[in-house]
Amino acid sequence: MTSRIIAVEPFDLVVFGGAGDLAYRKLLPALFHRHADGQIPAAARIVGVSRRAMSDADYRAATREALGQHVADADREPALVETFLKRLHFIPVDARSDAGWDDLGTLLQKGGGRIRAFYLAVAPELFGTISAKLGGKGLATPATRVIIEKPIGHDLASAVAVNDAIGQIFEEGQIYRIDHYLGKETVQNLMALRFANALFEPLWNAAHVDHVQITVAETIGVAGRGDYYDHAGALRDMVQNHMIQLLCLVAMEPPAEMNADSMRDEKIKVLRSLEPINAHNSARLIVRGQYRAGGGPNGPAPAYASEVANPASATETFIALRAGINNWRWAGVPFYLRTGKRLPTRASEIVVSFRAIPHSIFAPEAGEIEQNRLVIRLQPDEGVKLNLMIKDPGPGGMRLRYVPLDMSFAEAFGIRSPDAYERLILDVIRGNQTLFMRRDEVEAAWAWIDPIAEAWQASNETPKPYPAGTWGPAASIALIERDGRTWYDEVG
Ligand code: BG6
Repeated sequence: MTSRIIAVEPFDLVVFGGAGDLAYRKLLPALFHRHADGQIPAAARIVGVSRRAMSDADYRAATREALGQHVADADREPALVETFLKRLHFIPVDARSDAGWDDLGTLLQKGGGRIRAFYLAVAPELFGTISAKLGGKGLATPATRVIIEKPIGHDLASAVAVNDAIGQIFEEGQIYRIDHYLGKETVQNLMALRFANALFEPLWNAAHVDHVQITVAETIGVAGRGDYYDHAGALRDMVQNHMIQLLCLVAMEPPAEMNADSMRDEKIKVLRSLEPINAHNSARLIVRGQYRAGGGPNGPAPAYASEVANPASATETFIALRAGINNWRWAGVPFYLRTGKRLPTRASEIVVSFRAIPHSIFAPEAGEIEQNRLVIRLQPDEGVKLNLMIKDPGPGGMRLRYVPLDMSFAEAFGIRSPDAYERLILDVIRGNQTLFMRRDEVEAAWAWIDPIAEAWQASNETPKPYPAGTWGPAASIALIERDGRTWYDEVG
């Protein structure tokens, strides 16, 4: 089965931080895939920018190497690599001085009035500086878009400052705030499941849903990003953005249309309905953990404290929390969120557990009747499972069995699941902001997160230890078991 490809308009994509990790690992491979599928018109150009003195030839050579590492051999046809590399240019530019800006301007001028996208794959301290330069140097045309990624601030006040600085130059409709989880195939599938089927939506509320679990488990540690991570921790790195966005997509009302403002209007209502977690209740509603030395699928793993500069770090690498949504649809339905590094397996899932049946007509020998569960598997092995009770086949009386109606997307469609960045970068070119965060969403998410961070700071309580390669501190299990529930054990 092949996917349907619609080419985009010609564009110039300028990547600040073009010779950085995100560019080589994610952005250039994503663009290569879109190029290979014929979705990028011949005239489109990709311009790497950074302080480094690199020529076009150097950049093309470095990109060739990066593609070698990050694109599967089978997808890397040599002729396509060559035509892709021809699109690339490199201009040394210093974001903080005037060096290089005129050269960038001259190159962009050759593109006339075409779409320009500036991807700021740089430290967030530079978002405002670069935006001001783009404005001051006249590079921000009406057909210009700017792309930024988290961390957008460290708390509400700093997020407002970042948004203000970018907003001085760009209109909200030109600003694309990436949360790459929104570009994942299965996350978009959640929209299809909910709103293209008549089956689930009537049950999607407190009358029929017992609880929701959202797990994003990683096996990696801080992977060389200790400096950033030790200041962020799991709360700011994963919960403030990816986890909250997933929660919003599960919980939001059906938007009037699948367009940017309708979707974002519904998500923000969820954000504003989140039950506050603060110094009064955080001990009951959140568990923080930090991994100690241990194991895992990749063998022995060091302690977090030995991977970062501060051996006494109190930064959390694991969080489990119970969120509540105070609105008519969800009042009383817990949303359990769990994320961590150095867990036993890499698995991200959303599990919607429906309420137990009101009365069983079966004899006790028939066995236990489990709650129906809809399991949306984000990664790896994207797919959807609906867990149901059936009669155990064969003779021997009525015995019940809990089985999944199981749909693996890879098996069903047999196509490579595109990386989130492939979708998101092209959405920027198409001018479609549906899968990007609006300013008020980012700020509302911080408004919910700040009291949690403040409560921790005030309590001086340190994260609970867990051995690398386990499912976090035992307190995470206690958090959900206290409510008479368990973490969905098929994760992994
Ligand atoms: C990033 C976080 O946003 O998401 C990382 O900063 C995390 O810490 C990553 O590892 C997870 O993304 P994915 O797509 O691998 O699930």
